[in-house]
Amino acid sequence: MSQATWTAVDRLIASTLDQPDEVLLAARAASSEAGLPEIAVSPAQGKLLHLLARSLGARSILEVGTLGGYSAIWLARALPEGGRMVSLELDPSHAEVARANLARAGLGDRVDVRVGPALEGLTALAAEAGPAFDLAFIDADRPHGPAYFERAVGLTRRGGLVVVDNVVRGGLVADDTGDDPGARDSRRLWEAAGADPRVSATVVQTVGMKGYDGFLLALVLGSAS
Ligand code: SAH
Ligand code: DHB
Ligand code: MG
Repeated sequence: MSQATWTAVDRLIASTLDQPDEVLLAARAASSEAGLPEIAVSPAQGKLLHLLARSLGARSILEVGTLGGYSAIWLARALPEGGRMVSLELDPSHAEVARANLARAGLGDRVDVRVGPALEGLTALAAEAGPAFDLAFIDADRPHGPAYFERAVGLTRRGGLVVVDNVVRGGLVADDTGDDPGARDSRRLWEAAGADPRVSATVVQTVGMKGYDGFLLALVLGSAS
């Protein structure tokens, strides 16, 4: 089995299980046109995030790493009337593309894209004492992964989920020579999740058009602090 097979199957998942979606296609095209890196979640991964949010009955969603808003559209579409989403993004030009894509998706009023370093955004959210999040999706820079995780768990309600993208990295995570900085960052995140009494976690390995990678899924057991 190879990348070509994984990509073909990923396309089949999207074409079989969902109707073609002009809004999502337009968001990808606009992001690409604006020169953003093509690293958004795949359609199948976006659908998974959407279904997780719906199965949690999510009214409040946190994202770390907006890029062009592709995953944000999938997630925000799971929200009921009156639901809200906050998405944190470092790069103002990414945020601008995302806001335009979200507006075109009719979600502009539901998603608050905040520009700045996510660590600062998470600190601000903790100080705001708003309602706890039902779902947090972490998909930004890897070195801060453990810090984002630590804070996201604190902002998420009991019974909520914290999902982290890109935690397997083509299997590099299991290479214990410690030579790959990204692999070391992933391992630190896994260890943080395994040692954190507030959560019960697993890692789902994935293949698809984005290669071989994985999601960490952590169920929050304790209440938001
Ligand atoms: N979730 C998006 C993809 C995110 S790509 C999707 O699937 O559609 C990662 C994003 O994290 C990039 O836009 C990058 O600019 C942003 N990022 C990197 N470092 C960051 C930081 N310190 N704080 C906030 N965002 C950051
Ligand atoms: C990269 C980042 C991601 O979030 C992703 O899903 C895939 C690749 C990257 O920085 O290369
Ligand atoms: Mg990612």
